Amino acid sequence: MSSFITFNMPVTIVRPKLADKDAVCSLFIHTIGHAFKREGIAVLHASDIEREITEQINTLQRDLDSNGRDEYFLIARAGDKVVGTAAYGPANTIIRDNLSVDVATTPEIKSVYVLPEYQCQGIGTQLLQAIRKRIQDDGITDFCLDSGYTSAQRYWTNRLGEPQVVLNDYWGTNAHHMIWRRRVADVT
Ligand SMILES: CC(C)(COP(=O)(O)OP(=O)(O)OC[C@H]1O[C@@H](n2cnc3c(N)ncnc32)[C@H](O)[C@@H]1OP(=O)(O)O)[C@@H](O)C(=O)NCCC(=O)NCCS
Repeated sequence: MSSFITFNMPVTIVRPKLADKDAVCSLFIHTIGHAFKREGIAVLHASDIEREITEQINTLQRDLDSNGRDEYFLIARAGDKVVGTAAYGPANTIIRDNLSVDVATTPEIKSVYVLPEYQCQGIGTQLLQAIRKRIQDDGITDFCLDSGYTSAQRYWTNRLGEPQVVLNDYWGTNAHHMIWRRRVADVT
């Protein structure tokens, strides 16, 4: 039986404000913890959960500190609840080390997280479409993206096709890391 509940409240995609910080941090904690549990690696990779949450919170803070210049977030709201995030900004170290991307012209789409109970209702798609529009409006034609979660890798492979780079056993046996580089126009 599906664990998803269908919410009929309309979702709006907006820029985060300082007042949203606590809600967005709670979303990271909840969604990242859930994703690791779903992968069956929450115990094995407890320190990676902490690191990933801290990285996301720091990325959000760089957005808030620079008013969207150093990192650019969008959040999805259902009523007054923050239910999802997506961002773009400079590519992370794993991408830079394994794919020759020009950091100045090829940003990373990152921080795509939807609260578990709101997943599979099109919110991730709405966030991606809004980020894509923003990137295009900024005159950028290419982006990169990476993922270490098996479930998210299926999602991105469905959306973007096969990755450019697969780092086999990067996170342990059969736990690969995948990296994509695509035209912004390929995000549908
Ligand atoms: C991956 C994620 C962002 C997708 O957001 P979402 O709101 O659930 O996605 P949508 O409802 O927009 O789904 C769009 C399509 O992808 C499919 N889909 C959703 N999650 C999927 C998954 N894990 N694997 C494969 N397909 C998936 C949906 O069935 C839907 O297909 P359809 O258009 O043919 O009906 C969200 O599930 C999530 O936050 N997952 C946990 C965190 C994570 O892995 N983030 C990515 C970090 S790289």
